[in-house]
Amino acid sequence: MDKFVIRGGRRLSGEVVVSGSKNASLPVLCSSILTDKECTFTNVPDLEDIKTMCKVLESLGVEVERPRPKTVLVRANGLNVFEASYDHVKKMRASILVLGPLLARYGRAKVSLPGGCAIGVRPIDMHLKALARMGAEIELSHGYVVARASRLKGARIVFDNTTVGGTENILMAAVLAEGTTVIEGAAQEPEVVDLAEALVAMGAKIDGIGERTLVVEGVDELSGTNHRVIPDRIEAGTFMVAAGMTRGRITIQGARPDHVTAVIDKLMEMGIDIRSDNDGDLVVDGDRDLEPASVETVPYPGFPTDMQAQVMALMCLARGVSSVTETIFENRFMHVPELMRMGAKLEEKGRTVIVRGIERFQGASVMATDLRASASLVLAGLNASGQTEVRRIYHLDRGYEALEKKLNALGADISRERGGL
Ligand code: EPZ
Repeated sequence: MDKFVIRGGRRLSGEVVVSGSKNASLPVLCSSILTDKECTFTNVPDLEDIKTMCKVLESLGVEVERPRPKTVLVRANGLNVFEASYDHVKKMRASILVLGPLLARYGRAKVSLPGGCAIGVRPIDMHLKALARMGAEIELSHGYVVARASRLKGARIVFDNTTVGGTENILMAAVLAEGTTVIEGAAQEPEVVDLAEALVAMGAKIDGIGERTLVVEGVDELSGTNHRVIPDRIEAGTFMVAAGMTRGRITIQGARPDHVTAVIDKLMEMGIDIRSDNDGDLVVDGDRDLEPASVETVPYPGFPTDMQAQVMALMCLARGVSSVTETIFENRFMHVPELMRMGAKLEEKGRTVIVRGIERFQGASVMATDLRASASLVLAGLNASGQTEVRRIYHLDRGYEALEKKLNALGADISRERGGL
């Protein structure tokens, strides 16, 4: 297993370009199942999770080509397999997003239950309940969801709690269903909006995009599309924090500032200066003393759970007491003991962590446990005195494209080395 060796204490400066969004790419790749025409997706990041999703689609019989970097051509012409295997789904839970499209297009699907992951149980009960309301017969058998539907029927779906994946699965099910589907309590994440816009470009009829209530008029068939995926707002937020960790000044190019307002507001509250220049780039000045703050993760447009670990690392350097409350996942504090090994003063109290400021992190050997926790350890390593080894960085490779190359181009000193269980 690879590890990062980070020599900390170097100020970041220069420009960095944000890659395409992982969490927008994954559902739009699945949307190709809804048509037999060719779909071209561009600005798709080169990540392990994208490779896994392409393998899932190929296992269903979808033709997948990657003619050039960041471009994926897909064509679901006459699928003959309707099963997403445990091997794929256990590796990446987003594989569950083939369920809605398979049911909508072919009326049948057998998808492994995702099982839990490091950050929580992550059930799919809301997905299944909604599909059943649309007329699907759902059976749980030997760890698989086995679903059938002669033709899905439009229905009124109410999500009592926000589910990004649930909204995406039902949206893809609804676009080919018979009649009208109303999704109340829909997730409003930019990735959901991007999927909806790709579906509309394919001929779907969706009203209320970006709102809490989506209204979908089912159509008989969809065309292909050529869709450019939105930039990754979590990668953009991670680089903003990196500037704050190193008192650096960086320009983040290619982000959508309107997708990261809650993150920008919080970081500015802590003292970092962030502004959009006339090219729409984000100019981040982290050469400031950091003020403490409190943050609670909530669904979009609030502060994103995927930035929780990163902002906690930053709060460790603030002059005072901060707090982080995680309301989305039940076990998303695994970075806490690892940050404490680097000198952080953290106290976990249920869903809240109290953060007391320290002067500087101390380099140490730490273990990555999930994608965003790994990012927070790298960020702490950028600040730390001495050397930090972040092990099991395959977690990072799932969701950050060439992170060490981008950070080193900004002046960091990170090497990727073999070994380090
Ligand atoms: C998406 O996961 C993202 N993944 C996650 O990003 C992100 O953290 C999450 O949304 C929240 O924003 C992708 O888009 C591929 P949810 P998803 O359904 O769809 C519970 C990353 O780091 N729930 O919105 O799985 C669930 O357990 C990843 O890039 C149910 O109880 O998230 C969680 O506590 C991590 N029943 C909460 O809702 C359900 O049927 C939110 O889950 C569905 C969800």
